[in-house]
Amino acid sequence: MKIGYRIATGTDESQIRALLEQAQLPTESLGTNVTEFFVAEQDGAIVGAAGFEYYGDDALLRSLAIQANQRNLGLGSSLVDWMLSRAIELRIKRIVLLTDTACKFFQKRGFQVVSRSFITNDAMKKSSEFASVCPASSTTMILNLT
Ligand SMILES: CC(C)(COP(=O)(O)OP(=O)(O)OC[C@H]1O[C@@H](n2cnc3c(N)ncnc32)[C@H](O)[C@@H]1OP(=O)(O)O)[C@@H](O)C(=O)NCCC(=O)NCCS
Repeated sequence: MKIGYRIATGTDESQIRALLEQAQLPTESLGTNVTEFFVAEQDGAIVGAAGFEYYGDDALLRSLAIQANQRNLGLGSSLVDWMLSRAIELRIKRIVLLTDTACKFFQKRGFQVVSRSFITNDAMKKSSEFASVCPASSTTMILNLT
């Protein structure tokens, strides 16, 4: 079945929230203006989501989740690829993320593990992901787009 990728709208919020809850990911800043969400959609149902928070030249990738019964079919990779092409269009130079669970998934897609102190973008460091949601033990990863 065909999968479509698009920028989320306000009416997608409850489906995105359900997806993140199912994946045991935080939902605190959903519904704020901080994050631009993207969704993967199949037959009108949202089967994947992830967000970007923009901080100057950098974007923080967060809340990537694929519906449990649709994993390992390439959807997560395709959604990330789609988001990266959008980031390139927006002239974002670097993608940053924090993860407890998906380090290998992102390594396969070119992200590199760095020390958290490597991130010097002050606005990003004040984000809820850095400041409160993700513990110090989370893995920090970056992907340079230039
Ligand atoms: C991580 C996640 C988004 C991957 O989506 P997906 O659609 O299953 O991924 P794909 O099918 O594109 O890629 C699957 C590949 O990633 C690997 N993979 C999937 N989940 C993984 C994980 N948590 N850790 C490491 N590798 C993982 C698979 O083994 C597979 O490897 P292959 O490329 O060698 O075949 C999905 O498993 C998920 O929603 N997990 C729960 C939420 C989560 O942990 N999100 C990350 C928060 S930063």
